[in-house]
Amino acid sequence: MSIVKRMTRALFWSWSPDSDKEATQAIGFNLLLHWFPAKITNKSKSWGYSAWLGTITLALFVILSVTGVVLMFVYVPSIERAYHTIKDVEFVVSYGWFIRRMHRWAAHLMVAFVCLHMIRVFLTGAYKSSKQNVNANRPLNWIIGVVLLILTMLLSYTGYLLPWDQLALWAITIGANIAASVPVIGEQVQFLMQGGTLIGQNTLIIWYALHVAVLPLITIGLIVWHMWRIRKDGGLAGVETIPVEKTREEPDKAKTYSLMGVTQGVRPTVLYHRVKDKTGLFVPEALVRVLIAFLFTTAAVMFLSFFNIPLEEPASLEWTPNPAKAPWYFLWLQELVTITTIRVSGYTFNGGLVGGIVIPGVLVTFIALWPYIDRSPDSAVGIWFHKTRTWQNRIFLFLIIVIAILSFIGLVLRGPNWGIYMPWEAWPLHPTLI
Ligand code: HEM
Repeated sequence: MSIVKRMTRALFWSWSPDSDKEATQAIGFNLLLHWFPAKITNKSKSWGYSAWLGTITLALFVILSVTGVVLMFVYVPSIERAYHTIKDVEFVVSYGWFIRRMHRWAAHLMVAFVCLHMIRVFLTGAYKSSKQNVNANRPLNWIIGVVLLILTMLLSYTGYLLPWDQLALWAITIGANIAASVPVIGEQVQFLMQGGTLIGQNTLIIWYALHVAVLPLITIGLIVWHMWRIRKDGGLAGVETIPVEKTREEPDKAKTYSLMGVTQGVRPTVLYHRVKDKTGLFVPEALVRVLIAFLFTTAAVMFLSFFNIPLEEPASLEWTPNPAKAPWYFLWLQELVTITTIRVSGYTFNGGLVGGIVIPGVLVTFIALWPYIDRSPDSAVGIWFHKTRTWQNRIFLFLIIVIAILSFIGLVLRGPNWGIYMPWEAWPLHPTLI
């Protein structure tokens, strides 16, 4: 490389590899880049296959961590001061309102995007490993994903309590009541969640510690494991489905081959061409896309942060908001609890156990173990709506539609005393008198 070229590169840090070897070395010698492979398939880096939804979820988690640390400088987890520190963030601290809104919008978006990412993985059958790759264990990564989904919701939910306003208090009360309906240990679980028999200072401290330390650390650990597994699994699903037979040739007996070439029964040159056709370098081709995903996500969160987010009246156990609704991603559960609450001649069978614990528990276990139940063929792995996976996709989409309908009822139609009100119907002025 000429001296001028070297100097220009050193000045602007615009190094780009001149050969595949240089690219591989750059990744091997760099801790951060080592996370990614030197080469990835064209399919993995296309916008259309994964829609980069996992990367967007990761970007949202990073935004949450950064803005969360800034909020910690001002927030005090005391029931006397918490609400007022949030007011300070909104109205006194320079650009505090912006940081708070970014944090809240990113939290909502992360729940939404982690769900979209899961839907994409399901519909492409990417939770299965094909038999060609013996190191792959995608079902395990799917299970890690299910735990990440639950953690994402818990992170958002624990954050809900922290402003110590009415919205927070009653969202937590609903959760604690559902936990209390667990047979035998219900009361103990509720006691643990509240840090006592009543919601108060202990509750706030417990949820604060969970929100800022315990849950983020577990989530970071699992994200690292999730990403590492993607590499162990040979990259995104579908890569191994390249039909090996079509490119396989008889080894030439007059030549010697590398161990890899001989074991695969493929001439090294043929192997090389096959790989070259289907792959590109991670740096810069895919890295640029990672950066675009991060920048685009940050820009979208910043844009949304110009729209207000609620901060209700300070929390008060004396006055119950009517209706008291759970956060939007738990509304389908609140609706399930309502549906399974049965009133027969003066007796009420609380649906907390069936609707709040049993049905969601069975559902999550079923979804986590699904890759072991599903028997779709290797050729379907990594392909959107493959024709051999029609019934699998139908079952999954059916579940999503049911959850969406229940959430819609909870979000839009439920009014005072948890009655159904059409959007054009006015709510009664004195609901308690109904
Ligand atoms: C904090 C939450 C999560 C983060 C940050 C995350 C991140 C990622 C990223 C960056 C990828 C690479 C491909 C892509 O961008 O789509 C990926 C792939 C994958 N994720 Fe996630 N993910 C999360 C949650 C989940 C959930 C909830 C599931 C499923 C229950 C899941 C299952 C998978 C699987 C199986 C793959 C491999 C897909 C393939 O081979 O095509 N992940 N994840």
